[in-house]
Amino acid sequence: MAIQWRDAMSVGSEAIDEDHKKLFMLVNLYEDAIAKHNLFELRMAFQGLFEYTAGHFEREEKLQEAIAFPQAREHLQEHRELVRQLEAFNASLSDPEKPRLSLEEAGRFLHDWIVSHVFREDMKMRPLLLGRPVVR
Ligand SMILES: [Fe+2]
Repeated sequence: MAIQWRDAMSVGSEAIDEDHKKLFMLVNLYEDAIAKHNLFELRMAFQGLFEYTAGHFEREEKLQEAIAFPQAREHLQEHRELVRQLEAFNASLSDPEKPRLSLEEAGRFLHDWIVSHVFREDMKMRPLLLGRPVVR
């Protein structure tokens, strides 16, 4: 199911919000390609997602450092974990022996993971970014 970015998903930074919109769009392209069983599109979409995520995480981590985000370390760990999983998907994508089902599962997992990361973890930056006291 396609993810749509909504105002309620704003983390309080226009730059990061723009990144998240792009990330959601890339996840949607990836899922579309899976639905169409189009391996070429799937590889293209995944490559885009993979490359974009690295830059996005870097921007987000720099921002967290700048605002002295208290959960920066745990957040960095989550980013590293997602990168590790993306690398594993990347490896299975280039393996022609891998069954299609695992890619569908990978797509769903990616979707859920990104949405929950944005909601649960990235949203913790919002009070700081809006200049309000941090809710613990
Ligand atoms: Fe994040």
